[in-house]
Amino acid sequence: MFNVLSVDDLSQDFLISLWDEAYDRKGKRNKKLNGKILTNLFYEPSTRTSSSFYSAMKLSGGDVIPINNVTFSSVSKGESLEDTVKTISQMCDLIVLRHNIAGSAKIASQVSGVPIINAGDGNSEHPTQTILDGYTIYHYFNKKIDNLNITLVGDLKNGRTVKSLVKLLTRFKNNKFNFVSPENLRFDGQLPPNSSEVSDINKVIEETDILYVTRVQKERGSKYNYELSIDQLDKIPKNSIVMHPFPRVTEIPSSFDKDPRAKYFDQIKFGVWCRQILLERILL
Ligand code: CP
Repeated sequence: MFNVLSVDDLSQDFLISLWDEAYDRKGKRNKKLNGKILTNLFYEPSTRTSSSFYSAMKLSGGDVIPINNVTFSSVSKGESLEDTVKTISQMCDLIVLRHNIAGSAKIASQVSGVPIINAGDGNSEHPTQTILDGYTIYHYFNKKIDNLNITLVGDLKNGRTVKSLVKLLTRFKNNKFNFVSPENLRFDGQLPPNSSEVSDINKVIEETDILYVTRVQKERGSKYNYELSIDQLDKIPKNSIVMHPFPRVTEIPSSFDKDPRAKYFDQIKFGVWCRQILLERILL
């Protein structure tokens, strides 16, 4: 069974062919998944991931069971994750699971009768966010993900999108990483060989190709507020890009959104294109 629990489940060849197909198809409607059913099973709030999977499934002619808030399900009566997943897997062809506890997607995959896609498990991973983040980089850097200077900012301890993205980008050649965060929110994954940890973004911003900004995860106990100024953001080179998995709180002022380097709304559109191809590859 093809589960997507971690970026480790996605080979470089698989990703590149998925990105190329997503670029060619751009979310065009078809009927390939007619008769297939996806369940969105979300134990944490979501705007983008749940609606992106919904949209992607519908674009290919499939159907969706939307359990977007488990407090309105029998989870609120005390039903376990295992029983919930075993139950749901009797009714559909694939489960997209978001959960607050790291490792939940793996547990779900051990009891499920259908494939599991990890839509974010605690502070661990968010592999389909990385599919669309990787696509965004592939798209804007002429299909090359090598020799890039990547600056990751914010809550690097609890940001699961950062952990998955670093895993992906370390597979490519000569990428350099700057991890920018306060001491208590330092990246706690495996640091890549060519990386530095800094507390002042101004030391690295002028050499940055990709500025990847993240929200402080207050729901995981992180305490920190920051806001990049327009003056700071304007220091990134003209051909560089600014990414953010969203939701954003205060990190990037909305007045930067019209800057051509701001690619965070494109990421969201690309997410639908990429997830459509992923669903077809798992379900067909
Ligand atoms: N990027 C992301 O996972 O957003 P949501 O929490 O809105 O799904």
